[in-house]
Amino acid sequence: MDDPFRMDLEADPPFERLGGAPEDSGQLRSAFGCFPTGVVAVSAMSEGNPICMVASSFVGVSISPPLVAFCVQWESQTWARLKDLPRLGISVLGAEHDQSVRRLASRAEDKFHELGLCVREEGSVFVDGATAWLDCSTQDVMPAGDHGIVLLRIHELTLRPEAEPLVFHGSAFRQLGVSTPDQSASPPQP
Ligand SMILES: Cc1cc2nc3c(=O)[nH]c(=O)nc-3n(C[C@H](O)[C@H](O)[C@H](O)COP(=O)(O)O)c2cc1C
Repeated sequence: MDDPFRMDLEADPPFERLGGAPEDSGQLRSAFGCFPTGVVAVSAMSEGNPICMVASSFVGVSISPPLVAFCVQWESQTWARLKDLPRLGISVLGAEHDQSVRRLASRAEDKFHELGLCVREEGSVFVDGATAWLDCSTQDVMPAGDHGIVLLRIHELTLRPEAEPLVFHGSAFRQLGVSTPDQSASPPQP
């Protein structure tokens, strides 16, 4: 039987060494773009106006206690305003947001143009048409290179799991296609 381990010294295309040079960033962005993700809007009221940023780095972290996280660029002007607010609204964006997501991620004055919003008493803001709304507070922010890892505690949520999600892959927004035959697959329970 053939040796199952390939010991080739060259991959095709070949491996590239990352030495921290600025020119590595394009390759890294492309590498991160190989990983399809969802997209969330992180929104809250600030000085009487709704503000938001978009994050594809969102991830569920813990069931008990209920925690989620996303990574934020230290340079983000929006995060500078969001970070001290008592509540942040996480809207998991749906397929119907494909035309509005870039505007939500921009620095436009009217980011929420023609989008319906739900504003809660403690200041969290939610975008209509999302597949989930998570009402959160910031529990911790951990430094991680040029980003921070923001750990959020979920206090309340409401779900619309039947809504089609928005998928971000290779710098483009997509919708889910064909399901795999085993549609009941779920993560193992402890
Ligand atoms: C699809 C998409 C995903 C993004 N994901 C992140 C992210 O995970 N973390 C982040 O800090 N910014 C992310 N951004 C950028 C911010 O949403 C937003 O563009 C930026 O915060 C705007 O700049 P400002 O905060 O300085 O105003 C993403 C933008 C897009 C379009």
